[in-house]
Amino acid sequence: MLLELRSISKSFMSRSGGMVQAVDDVSLAIAEGESCAIVGESGCGKTTLARIAMGLVSPDRGRVLFEGRPVWGDKIRECYFRRKARMVFQDPFASLDPRYSVKATLDEALYLEGRIPLAQRQERMRVTLASVGFSPDILSRYPHEFSGGERQRIAISRALMTDPKLLILDEAVSSLDVVIQKEVLDCLAGLQESRGLTYMFITHNLKAARRITRKITVMKSGKIVE
Ligand SMILES: Nc1ncnc2c1ncn2[C@@H]1O[C@H](COP(=O)(O)OP(=O)(O)OP(=O)(O)O)[C@@H](O)[C@H]1O
Ligand SMILES: [Mg+2]
Repeated sequence: MLLELRSISKSFMSRSGGMVQAVDDVSLAIAEGESCAIVGESGCGKTTLARIAMGLVSPDRGRVLFEGRPVWGDKIRECYFRRKARMVFQDPFASLDPRYSVKATLDEALYLEGRIPLAQRQERMRVTLASVGFSPDILSRYPHEFSGGERQRIAISRALMTDPKLLILDEAVSSLDVVIQKEVLDCLAGLQESRGLTYMFITHNLKAARRITRKITVMKSGKIVE
C-alpha cells in the first residue's frame, strides 16, 4: 500500500468546552496508482484526516504508514515523505503567495530536494508547467494575473515539483465554478495517467469525486460509513 491510515482518532475541544470527535477510529488504505475519494458533509472530519495523513496534525491514536513504513520519527523518512506526498488546498487565492512570481513559487518547492544547479531547476519548472498545460512564458508572472482555475493549476504544478507519488487534494475544485472545475479535473485525470499519481481526493461533491476515481469512501461524524 502507498498510504495506510490505521485506527486514526482525533478529538478537539469545542468552543462550548465539550469534546468533538473529529475523526473516530478511521482506517484506510490506498494502493499506488489507485486513487481514493473521501466524501461527506461539512464537519465530518475530512480535512482533519487529511492533515493527520500529512503530519500537520498529530492524531490522539493511530498510525500513518507510507509504503508500508511509519512516516514520523525518522528524519530521513520524514524528508522523503514530504517530497513524495504533497497537499493541494481548496483556495488557490490563499495558497499562492501574491508576492511570489510563478518561478519563485515553483523554485521554493525545490528546497526539499537539496542543492540543484540552476539549469536543472529551470528545466524541471518548464517540464512541470507543461504537464499542467502552461507555457514557460508564465514563469515571470504573478498569481493575481491568473484566473481561479489557472491558479489552481499553478498550485498543482508546485505540488508536482518534487515528483510526488501521492497528492492529497482537499476540496481542490470546490471553490471553482463548474466549467473551471472540469478544466482542473481533466488536468488531474491527465496527470494521473501520465505520471501514475495516486490521489486522496477530498470533496463534498460526489460528481467531482466520480471524475477522479470509482473508489469512494463516505465519512460521517468522524467515521467511515461506506
Ligand atoms: N483545530 C480545531 N480546533 C477545534 N475543532 C476543530 C479543529 N479542526 C477541526 N475541528 C472540528 O472537527 C470537526 C471536523 O472538522 P473538519 O474540518 O475535519 O471537517 P470537514 O469534513 O473537513 O468539513 P468541511 O467539509 O466543512 O471542510 C468539526 O466539528 C470541526 O469544528
Ligand atoms: Mg474540510
